[in-house]
Amino acid sequence: MVSERAGPALLEMRGISKHFGGLQALNGVDLTLHAGELLAIVGDNGAGKSTLIKILTGVYAASEGAITMDGQPVSIPNRRASIELGIDAVYQNLALVDYLTAPENVYLGNELKRSFLGIPVLDNGAMREKAARLLKDRLGISLGNIDQHAFFLSGGQRQAVAIGRALIQETVRILILDEPTAALGPEETRRMLEVVQRLKGKEMGLIMISHQLEDVFELSDRIMVLRNGRLAGVRRTADTSRQEVLGLIVGSIRDGEAEAGAGSAVAS
Ligand SMILES: Nc1ncnc2c1ncn2[C@@H]1O[C@H](COP(=O)(O)OP(=O)(O)OP(=O)(O)O)[C@@H](O)[C@H]1O
Ligand SMILES: [Mg+2]
Repeated sequence: MVSERAGPALLEMRGISKHFGGLQALNGVDLTLHAGELLAIVGDNGAGKSTLIKILTGVYAASEGAITMDGQPVSIPNRRASIELGIDAVYQNLALVDYLTAPENVYLGNELKRSFLGIPVLDNGAMREKAARLLKDRLGISLGNIDQHAFFLSGGQRQAVAIGRALIQETVRILILDEPTAALGPEETRRMLEVVQRLKGKEMGLIMISHQLEDVFELSDRIMVLRNGRLAGVRRTADTSRQEVLGLIVGSIRDGEAEAGAGSAVAS
């Protein structure tokens, strides 16, 4: 079970605070993520979810706090550092370049090359084939016409291509999904949940931010609740209920000891 593991966690964030001028967006937040688990982060608008994730992806520097991976201290001063540590995030809308095809998007910045008369040229055939295989085999998504521009893809297909882009960096160890089903219809939401389900259970740690408690309860191993920039509680999904999580979100349930990390479930 995820709560009783030997050895250091894949990721630990300890005492993370973030000020924006006078506004304290995060206040002493702890987060633990194990390899192979999906941790959901929930909380009301402005609770600090995106800010916490942006600290992990090097978009913001924390005002206070420490981060370790495999028990080793790390610093994440910028986006590049987070990628080098194997941390990547998929955002709903910024994810794709509309005038590129799905394979071009998957390999954007990591293009495959072949040698032509001693000169490196783009290996479009290999990118097409590998991207199609990745989307189909690992994510269970077929695009129909793989050569059409991303502009014409549906929301769920776009999201899958964005996840594919993160996955071809084979070093990815922590994948963050920020509202993966936010803009999707019911059918696409279902497919996206299946995509996320397929990613689970490998060595990768997944963090999913979501306002959709249905999705959270279906997919997550643990649920972390933020309220007004503080950790309101962490629960094992199997040991909690929607009522309890909602109570933590709005503050009608107070967690006496909102300890972070594994084994913190105090289900009633
Ligand atoms: N760059 C910034 N400058 C100033 N304040 C910011 C900045 N980014 C976030 N904030 C503030 O920090 C707080 C937390 O915002 P954050 O975006 O982390 O919330 P969230 O939990 O992701 O909310 P939502 O569910 O609406 O996405 C909010 O009060 C927000 O206005
Ligand atoms: Mg947000």
